[in-house]
Amino acid sequence: SEQSPTVHKGLVGVYADTTAVSTIDEPTNTLIYRGYPAAQLAERYSIEHIAYLLWYGDLPTAAEFDAFTSRIRAAYRLDPAVADWLATTRPDTHPMDLLRTAVSILGATDSSTPQLDRDTTLAQATRLLAQMPAVVAAIQRHRHAQPPIPADPGLGIAENFFHMCFDDIPSEPMVRAFETSLILYAEHGFNASTFTARVVTSTLADLYSAITAAIGALKGPLHGGANEAVMYMLQQIDSPEAAADWVRRALERKERIMGFGHRVYKHGDSRVPAMEKALKTVVAERGATDLLARYHAVQDAVYQAKQLLPNLDFPAGPAYYLMGFDIPIFTPIFAMARVTGWVAHVLEQRADNALIRPLAVYTGPTSRPLP
Ligand code: SDX
Repeated sequence: SEQSPTVHKGLVGVYADTTAVSTIDEPTNTLIYRGYPAAQLAERYSIEHIAYLLWYGDLPTAAEFDAFTSRIRAAYRLDPAVADWLATTRPDTHPMDLLRTAVSILGATDSSTPQLDRDTTLAQATRLLAQMPAVVAAIQRHRHAQPPIPADPGLGIAENFFHMCFDDIPSEPMVRAFETSLILYAEHGFNASTFTARVVTSTLADLYSAITAAIGALKGPLHGGANEAVMYMLQQIDSPEAAADWVRRALERKERIMGFGHRVYKHGDSRVPAMEKALKTVVAERGATDLLARYHAVQDAVYQAKQLLPNLDFPAGPAYYLMGFDIPIFTPIFAMARVTGWVAHVLEQRADNALIRPLAVYTGPTSRPLP
């Protein structure tokens, strides 16, 4: 009889293509964006610099940066088609559903959508980079029955996001902590949502279709949805002393502890130290030492019970909470950062495309006569 082919369930350990966008340097456990350590970039640069780096391959010169930010800022104003539609939605609709649909509307209202050439795609990408924060901020406000606040073209993406959410910009260290999170979230190889974007792109579909699909993939709690779930967990555990019991009971129910474990990292997520530093900045500003104590207690309890280490979503969740964002917009914030990486992979996929179409080993009934 025939031997069954090997099934790579979950594509664990499978190299599906090559990439020049990012890698994890194993010996030093360092995430690298086009040659630069992401954690070092996060200390000094803006998400605009990182978008430029990921899309064009190098950090921008001062002149290139000015031209790039001018193009982004020219696209800041929330698209009226999205604003009008958002106003008709129920305020308790999940923000990931709203963001996914908003990006789909942006595709449906852009006459350049079918064009796949690099320049048009970069113009569409620039529009998405500008529009997604405006959409997420409008969602944050819609949840509180507040009208959108127009973007301020004098501000960068990170500051502008606070302005559009709260009509207020926090201290410089708070903005830096937020910018750090955006940069650390920007890109991470062939994660599920990026791979989704590449699958869609491989059929020669347009950028908006790829990003809409990627947002759908990011929503689940095994992927981007974890940062939201982390905060609900930290809310359920009301004291550091309660952490060990809570974790033990969750593991007994065979539940996954949100914000822990990772498909690729076996010795800890390389982004956690930089994000934990950012979290501590935010804790100091907000005087939220009780939340930090619960954070550490959960981390210790999960390690003691299962030797699992936190991923980026574990420090990002409480940081976003202390910055004042509604918990359901945490994953949309991840999306507005990750769009930079998605776009870089869409461009790379197109430059050397092969339709992504694997095989499955059939386990259904053998051929049988109709009844
Ligand atoms: C992101 O791919 C990326 O790069 C993703 C990401 C990015 O930047 O794009 O880093 C963003 O998605 C981070 C991950 C966010 N998800 C969570 O925090 C959800 C909780 N984590 C897990 O469900 C899990 O660790 C995953 C989804 C992250 C990874 O899943 P895998 O690789 O399929 O591993 P697995 O679920 O098969 O677990 C392997 C073992 C199991 O034990 P055994 O059955 O072998 O005894 O480890 C255990 C699991 O039980 N385990 C966990 C656990 N994570 C792993 N047990 C309890 N809680 C967990 N969180």
